[in-house]
This record gives sequence, structure tokens and C-alpha cells, in this order.
Amino acid sequence: MKYMTAEPFRIKMVEPIKKTTKAHRQQCLKEAQYNAFRLKAEDVYIDCITDSGTSAMSQDQWSAMFQGDESYAGCKSFYRLEKSVQDVFGMEFVQPTHQGRAADYIMAQIYAKKGKYAIGNMHFDTFRGNAEMMGCIPYDCVIKEGEKANQEYHPFKGNIDIPRMQKLIEDQGKENICCVIITITCNNNGGQPVSMENIKQVSDLAKKHNIPVIIDSARLAENAYFIKTREKGYEDKDIKDITREMFSYCETATMSSKKDGLVNIGGLFVTRRKDIYLQANQLAIVHEGFITYGGMSGRDMEALAVGLQEATTFEYLDYRVKQVAYLGDRLIEKGIPIIQPTGGHGVYVDGLKFFPQIPQCEFPSQRLVSALYEEAGVRAVEIGACAFGSKDPKTGADIFPEIETMRICVSRRVYTNRHLDVIAEALGDIYKNRSSYKGLKMVYEGPITSLRHFTAGFELIE
Ligand code: F0G
Repeated sequence: MKYMTAEPFRIKMVEPIKKTTKAHRQQCLKEAQYNAFRLKAEDVYIDCITDSGTSAMSQDQWSAMFQGDESYAGCKSFYRLEKSVQDVFGMEFVQPTHQGRAADYIMAQIYAKKGKYAIGNMHFDTFRGNAEMMGCIPYDCVIKEGEKANQEYHPFKGNIDIPRMQKLIEDQGKENICCVIITITCNNNGGQPVSMENIKQVSDLAKKHNIPVIIDSARLAENAYFIKTREKGYEDKDIKDITREMFSYCETATMSSKKDGLVNIGGLFVTRRKDIYLQANQLAIVHEGFITYGGMSGRDMEALAVGLQEATTFEYLDYRVKQVAYLGDRLIEKGIPIIQPTGGHGVYVDGLKFFPQIPQCEFPSQRLVSALYEEAGVRAVEIGACAFGSKDPKTGADIFPEIETMRICVSRRVYTNRHLDVIAEALGDIYKNRSSYKGLKMVYEGPITSLRHFTAGFELIE
């Protein structure tokens, strides 16, 4: 296998992308008020705003779609999906949803309780929003090494801080903790993995106190790859043996299939408990669709059934995770400060270290997002002061997050390493010239602070 280090596929259909001038991009930025979400995709050269729903599907997925059974109830496509999910998750009951946040909604309705804590490593926004609407208190409990955008090596920066979790249970009383949610990989701090040992310890501690454990598993295959390549005792295990063991420590899992499902739409709610499944069915019927389609078409379920199998092969994952690391390595070579080690789905640049002259209240990472688009037509996304900033409920004063980054997501099977070289070259040039940049002023927020990264508008500070 010595020379077999290139992509494990070749390309048989291509999607043209548009090259634009800097003057055009400057105009686009102005019209979008320096918010990447408000740019038109056709004005983007390389799109790294997300890895969600952006995968290229394989010939086997496209051909499976022709087998889509669109019957309202009991379609063949559901049973094929159910079998594939059971194989990867090792759990019996499968409720499809139209995407991950719908599964989060169902999960929150069942597990989140008013006035009680939901412990997590770092809760993803969509569960957090659903929980908060129910009056539940999401509590992030990631280990210290994972809290900041730092460059120190830790193999599992997504791990939950066990002593802190224990302390919260003791301080608040176990009856005031409604659930624990482990997000694998942990999106908010760099796509950082959670070790099997940590999943097991969290599960043991939760079990002792009768607290249910749920896994938010959008990037379950990438997490399994990191366990195989970094955790002792797992070197010789199959990826699916690892995924099944991960889920053996939880009672329920949610999934945005738009990531490691290798599809463009879809979600899952999976559980080993029949009573929970029956509750999820009722919520799905009202909000998503009948039990055997839950908001998905038969053809999309077919593509997902195949995609889950492809994503859990070592050959695919080895290419995938190494491609993301390739981009990280190019940036490190140029001295650019990124979260290390690189995670599974993207590279996160430390905005405060990149632009030390721009304070957090002037959105350094958001400024970097616009600079990268302006220079090279590359669209990344801010995970920092705008996305995770909040306001003190009493004084209205701004509260800024520990994490201040620009996330460059790498879509699955979509771009070549040449595309990634372009990103590295452009960022390298911006970095050389970094002292000439000033910050941004937020001139529009939108109606809800926690959703402002989708709606906000900025002006350049001259
Ligand atoms: N959980 C995690 C860990 C996620 O990263 C996402 C979405 C969801 C749940 C919600 O899933 O989009 O299918 O409704 N993350 C995307 C991102 C949007 O860009 O990171 P969804």
C-alpha cells in the first residue's frame, strides 16, 4: 500500500465554480454587510462555511436513490435504512427525521426538563436552543485543554471533565440533572474527539446517579477514526466495532446525517429503549412525518443507508481526516495559529492570536472571514464573538466566549488538496500583512442574539 496515499476515488462528474475579481468580492462583501451567510454561493470560489449537507455522493449512493420507495407507510427504503443504522449504532429503534435539529427537538422534548441541567462537553447550538426554550439549563463541561483555541497537543480535547461533572451533580443534586449529552466529535472547539475511556467514565458516573446519557453523533465515524488511531487498545478494531462500542454506553443518540451520513439532507433519532422510541414516534408524526419516513423521502433514506456504510470504512476515513490535517499542516508551516491537533471536519484559526490588535468586541475572527473571502473568494465561518456572544440579562453588557476562531470546514469528497493549497496561500498572505487590518463594528444584530451570526451586519472600522 506504500504509494496508495491519494484520494480513494476518481471524479466522474464535475460542478463548475466561478472565478471572480477582488473588486467584485469587495462589492459582494459590502452588500452582505461582511456576513458570510449573506453572500450568494455563486460568488464563492471555495466554500468552507460548513461540512453539513455538502458531501459528494458516490455512484452507489446515486444508484441506490433510484430504488427509493416513496410509499407513505412501511416503505422498503425505511427498512434498508433501519438495517444500516442498526449495524453502525448497535441500537434497535430508528426514527428518521428531516435533519439533525429535528432529532434534537425530539430529544429535548423527551429529556430536557425545566429548571434542570443538561450536562455536555460543548452543546451544539440546535440542542442548546431547544433546551433553553424549555427552560432547561445547558451546562458545558469540556476539559480545560478544550476550552480555549490553544495549540497544545491533547489527543481528545472533546472529553468531558469528569471531576467537574461530579461536582455539578453533588452541588445541584442528581434529581436536578436531566441528562448528559456527549457530542462526538465536539464541533464547537475544533471537531475534537472524545475518547472511549471518557465516554465510558461519563456513562458510569451518570448510571450511578440514574442520569440518561445521549450521544450527539453527527461526526460519529470521524470520532471512531480518532479512537482507532490515538487510543490504546483500539488499533486493530474495525471502525464499526468502535462505533457500536461508543453507543453501547448511551441509551439514545441523535444524528445530523448531513455530516458522516455522506448525504445532503437527513437526521436520525436512535434509541435502545422501546418506551423512548414510542414517544419519539408521536413527536415525529406531529412534527416530521409518519414513523417510517420522518420527513425524508424514500430516495434520501436509500442514499443515507449506503452513505453510513461508506463513512464507516477505514479507507475513506483515513483519506478524510488526513485531508483536513493536510490543510492544518500547511497553515502551521506558515506560522498561522490554529487549534492543534486539527480535528475531523475542519481547521480552526485562532482569531485573537492572528489579529492581536483587534479586541474581541471588534470581532477579529469575523474580520478574518471577510479578509479571506476578499483575498481569495474562500468562504469560512466565524465561531467566536458573534456566533457565541451573549448579553448579561440584567445589564445588557456583552459577554464574549472563550473560543474565538474562524472555522474552515472541509466538505467530504468535494475539494482536492490544490483547493486547500489556495486557502493556505491566501491565509499566508493575509498573515504577512496582518498588522494592517482593523476590526468590525456590528451595525445590525437581528431579533435574537443567539442566532445573530446568521443575520448580523457589520461595517469596517476605518
Ligand atoms: N449537532 C451537531 C454536532 C452539529 O454540528 C449540527 C449541525 C447539528 C447537531 C444540527 O444538525 O444541521 O442537520 O439540523 N451543524 C452544522 C455546522 C450546521 O455547520 O456545524 P442539522
